Amino acid sequence: MLSQYLLQNLTIKNRTINNRIVLAPMAGLGHIALRQLISEFGGFGLLFTGMCSAKTVPHENSNTSLVFNWRQEELKYLVCQIFGSDPDTMVHAAQRIEKESFFGVDLNFGCSVAAICKKGCGAALLKHPSLASKIVKSVRESVSIPVFVKFRTGWDNNPQFAVDMAKRFEDAGADALTFHPRIAPDRRSRPPQWEVIKLVRQAVTIPVFGNGNIFQAKDGIKMIDQTSCQGLSVGRMAVARPWIFAQWTKGFSPGDDIFYTTAMRMTVILEMHYDDHFAVKMFKKFAPYFCANFKFGHQILKKLIRAQTMKDIRQNIDSIFKFTPEILSRPNQNLFL
Ligand SMILES: Cc1cc2nc3c(=O)[nH]c(=O)nc-3n(C[C@H](O)[C@H](O)[C@H](O)COP(=O)(O)O)c2cc1C
Repeated sequence: MLSQYLLQNLTIKNRTINNRIVLAPMAGLGHIALRQLISEFGGFGLLFTGMCSAKTVPHENSNTSLVFNWRQEELKYLVCQIFGSDPDTMVHAAQRIEKESFFGVDLNFGCSVAAICKKGCGAALLKHPSLASKIVKSVRESVSIPVFVKFRTGWDNNPQFAVDMAKRFEDAGADALTFHPRIAPDRRSRPPQWEVIKLVRQAVTIPVFGNGNIFQAKDGIKMIDQTSCQGLSVGRMAVARPWIFAQWTKGFSPGDDIFYTTAMRMTVILEMHYDDHFAVKMFKKFAPYFCANFKFGHQILKKLIRAQTMKDIRQNIDSIFKFTPEILSRPNQNLFL
């Protein structure tokens, strides 16, 4: 059973978690409000922030930052992800993250968005293996919290490259890897190659979290069976159904009103952390994933996001759920951007 596997202890450097399923880092989605919503359901081992710029982290004011912010009570299971291309800059950011008492720091070597790669960050570092190793080594030597690395297959369809990078990261001192088996030019519409997770897993002794297209419990079971990865990293499905971790590990059984109450709760939590304008903006980013749950998701989405204020959004939710929309067991991936 999935829960039996996920509820085994896993040691990452000097810290042990008792649940092996984690929220993947997602800029614009995995913010403080979504994390609070997920935390209210529980059932996960760790949560990852969306990527934060290593240049700004050292002097960022967490009371006013829209990205580098957290609730005190989540720090014990929160990993902060950073992107950057300069070892010293990454070190300074990691030191701030340790000082703030995060569980760990995650180095982003996987983002393939042009704006990030143009600056030599994210997946662009996979074109410079020595520099990537140097960053891991420098960060490892400068903090005592666990150091995670998230990366992808690379730029060419060459699994051996991913295997070599995994070994390099382990040699440089990484404590755990999250591996997304797609090449950088791939869009998310192409299926990830889970067999490469297996190769990466076999190449190192540190824990490997497998990531990519886990939408249902049976996908999680399949990934574990096919790859022997030590943990699962789930992104978009946890946005669509923030209770998914609780359902898969704690036996949480969602009631008929779960979609309505969760959408409403999301509006309330967003308002706790952001002003109305930004809360609306963040709700609109969340909305496509939420609407992917429904048969006529595109139409529902259109109706849901026709809004200027959070009050409009709540009215839209009320109106949409007057008649319960038909729910899909597997979300409509066309709405998963
Ligand atoms: C909107 C969005 C933002 C993302 N931002 C990040 C990020 O900041 N850092 C990162 O390492 N990966 C990021 N990712 C990639 C996810 O962590 C994950 O690898 C990807 O969504 C595949 O996992 P999934 O199929 O479970 O969603 C992002 C993905 C999405 C959809």
